[in-house]
Amino acid sequence: MAISHAQPLLLSLLVSLFFLPSALGGTDFHNCNPLRSYPVKVKIVEISPDPVKVSTNGNITITGSTSVDIPDGATINLDLRFPEPISKRSYSLCDIVACPVAAGPIVLNFYNVFTQQELTPWGYFVLITITEEHQEDPMMCVSFRCRITREQTSLL
Ligand SMILES: *[C@@H]1O[C@H](CO)[C@@H](O)[C@H](O)[C@H]1NC(C)=O
Repeated sequence: MAISHAQPLLLSLLVSLFFLPSALGGTDFHNCNPLRSYPVKVKIVEISPDPVKVSTNGNITITGSTSVDIPDGATINLDLRFPEPISKRSYSLCDIVACPVAAGPIVLNFYNVFTQQELTPWGYFVLITITEEHQEDPMMCVSFRCRITREQTSLL
């Protein structure tokens, strides 16, 4: 009896650990490897607008904190998957934020993320990583779903 009650509680606890930020107003996301502890911790992923509209494109903002300095040779990758890989862009850390980034809060803004061709009314799984030069393991790796909708046709 006690066990059958405890299990849903444990499950919801696990779910809320992985999807905690939805309570903070952003979109649901998870670390690529939930068992790994990344030095750059993501707190909020915001998609604006959410869902993205085919006609307006969209911005993505990642808010988090880093426990270590991020050197200016680091690379930020943004992958779109559906779920197979669709496209991938690489940015220098310095193209996205003032660099190097000292330990503490970090905000990453990606403006008008999608190309015209990518603005199709279904959406993608988005994977964003920060990787140091000559390192294989990312300092940050987060993935989330980004929906794209066609504008509602107005009633004539
Ligand atoms: C995206 O960010 C740019 C620059 O801040 C802003 O002009 C634009 O309105 C934003 N777009 C959306 C859909 O929020």
